Amino acid sequence: MEGRPAPTLSQRADELEHRQIAELERLVDRSVLFTSGDRDPTKPIPTRFKTLAPGQHVLMGDDPRLQKMPPKPTLMDFFRLRFAPANHLLQSATHARKAGMSEKVVTACLLHDIAVFGFIRVDHGYWGAQLVEPYVDEEVSWAIRAHQALRFFPDESVGYSYPDQYVKLFGADFKPEPYIVNAYNRARQNKWYMTARLITVYDIYSFDPNARVSFDDFADILGRNFKQPAEGLGFDSSPVAHMWRTIIWPTKFL
Ligand SMILES: [Fe+2]
Ligand SMILES: [Fe+2]
Repeated sequence: MEGRPAPTLSQRADELEHRQIAELERLVDRSVLFTSGDRDPTKPIPTRFKTLAPGQHVLMGDDPRLQKMPPKPTLMDFFRLRFAPANHLLQSATHARKAGMSEKVVTACLLHDIAVFGFIRVDHGYWGAQLVEPYVDEEVSWAIRAHQALRFFPDESVGYSYPDQYVKLFGADFKPEPYIVNAYNRARQNKWYMTARLITVYDIYSFDPNARVSFDDFADILGRNFKQPAEGLGFDSSPVAHMWRTIIWPTKFL
């Protein structure tokens, strides 16, 4: 058939999003408009992101497309209402617990990819460690941060090889950047090296979509190892409260 080519999937998604946004009383903008990598931020912003209909305002609170968060949200509330299904974390923690690991190791496994599921993928070990740092033992957040680098390096002493999956994902010739190599070398010297290493050990076997796992199984361990702030995550004036608020209101204009 002659005429315009059919719109691509991403064009259709853009159109749909445009329509949904136009239908909302308030203009919902993406917070990551300039840093998403979807577009060159030095180029002009597409008009659809800066055109307010008459009487329309920008969104400065709850996004009507998301589930409402309670006023004093707990870590569990974030897992229920904001994070992607986190079976991988539950399976990883289950492996660690079945292997008789300490509660610190189990907690680290349970939270190690929290950034991927709830916030951002790039440098997820660093972001994830920062998110939980005020609420967990220093060893736990240190291990979450270090797993970012360690997963690229084998440790035969615990049977950890470079994951086959990384060859598929990144290509056989992928080499970690120098900052990762440096972080790995520093981590090897750290007294908590093995805690981070164990995250990688229980990590790679934890992608079974059919495994039945639940957060209820870890409520006791989390209760002892994650200091839930009374004001709720996001409202305790901790150095990372703004990060939790960003997850609550990811499209708040400012
Ligand atoms: Fe990870
Ligand atoms: Fe993982």
